[in-house]
Amino acid sequence: MVKNRYYSAGLSSGVLVNMTNLRLPGLIDPHVHLREPGATHKEDFESGTKAALAGGFTIVLAMPNTSPPLIDDESLSLAETAAAQKAVCDYGIHLGASPQNIETAAQLAPRSSGLKLYLDATFGPLHLTDLHIIREHFGRWPHQRPILCHAEDRTLAAILMVAYLEKRSVHICHVSRRAEIEIIRDAKMRGLDVTCEVGPHHLFLTTDDIPRLGAGRSEVRPRLATPDDAAALWANMDVVDCIATDHAPHTLAEKDSDKPPPGFPGLETSLPLMLTAVHEGRIELDDLIKKMSDNPRRIFALPEQPDTWVDVDVDAGWRVPEKQVSRCGWTPFAGMPVRGQVQRVTLRNQVVYENGLFFATPGSGRNIAPVYQERGS
Ligand code: NCD
Ligand code: ZN
Repeated sequence: MVKNRYYSAGLSSGVLVNMTNLRLPGLIDPHVHLREPGATHKEDFESGTKAALAGGFTIVLAMPNTSPPLIDDESLSLAETAAAQKAVCDYGIHLGASPQNIETAAQLAPRSSGLKLYLDATFGPLHLTDLHIIREHFGRWPHQRPILCHAEDRTLAAILMVAYLEKRSVHICHVSRRAEIEIIRDAKMRGLDVTCEVGPHHLFLTTDDIPRLGAGRSEVRPRLATPDDAAALWANMDVVDCIATDHAPHTLAEKDSDKPPPGFPGLETSLPLMLTAVHEGRIELDDLIKKMSDNPRRIFALPEQPDTWVDVDVDAGWRVPEKQVSRCGWTPFAGMPVRGQVQRVTLRNQVVYENGLFFATPGSGRNIAPVYQERGS
């Protein structure tokens, strides 16, 4: 498949290395949990960004539901310092919205990649319920910077109204259900400034997989949805702006415990799963590159990465192994047959990953937030 297609660094056109080797632009994941500060037994900036490179990602945007959560200067500094010392790919750090940080968050915006509002219950301490506070965040956060929302079902309808009234854009995280993708489709048709992402786990796993995975290992927020919901996501792929992993690593011991935390790792499996879908004719390769590179770069106003690309053997067939680069050490996709394997990642003209080996120095990844871009660090 995809013979005679040409892709090169940063562009949707380029170089065919041989019949099955494809050169893709560096992929961008706008939704990862790197667990630092506070839970480095699950992941840290080094293990998480290594998992990113192994999956073909050269920019990841880290979520703020850490311990402590990233809601002020002090907590944001903890994540910035850890990332500056450890990251092997480029990254941004999302701030979290809390009832107390409306003013502070807006002031810190240039050091972040976006403001995350947790409007439905999930892992971590950030959960906003007060409609007035939610509107205040929408009103105060700089209009040119992205707001991301975890908003399921009726919460989604409510937040679309808030965004409309506050005359600003909103990005909806991990859409998982038919009614959700349909209301986003209709909102876009009416001219609302809304974008959205879907996680591969909601495209490739459903409630039918829960008996096989077991209760703890199928815990994720939003929950695995029905086969009809997954079919609706595939049928509305034109409404989906980004494929985002929602890489949410928890250890197997935690997943198999009495109180399993929700979340799946996803950085290493997303591209192979999506390339498998290309093989199966479920999505076009050009569309995949838009959703995994061009669109997230535009929506999150991320810099171009010069001399950066990913070499992929598109035809390589393999089974997802149990062991992952991610420190969490498991994946719900273990054993799944996939086609398409990352062979090499080149970042700023340096080979940083090749066939399972890493060549990047911890700390060589750059923070893409506006103030760091200006400083060129
Ligand atoms: C995420 C986590 O573990 O941090 N879990 C999840 O199930 N997706 C939190 C989140 O993104 O909701
Ligand atoms: Zn998440």
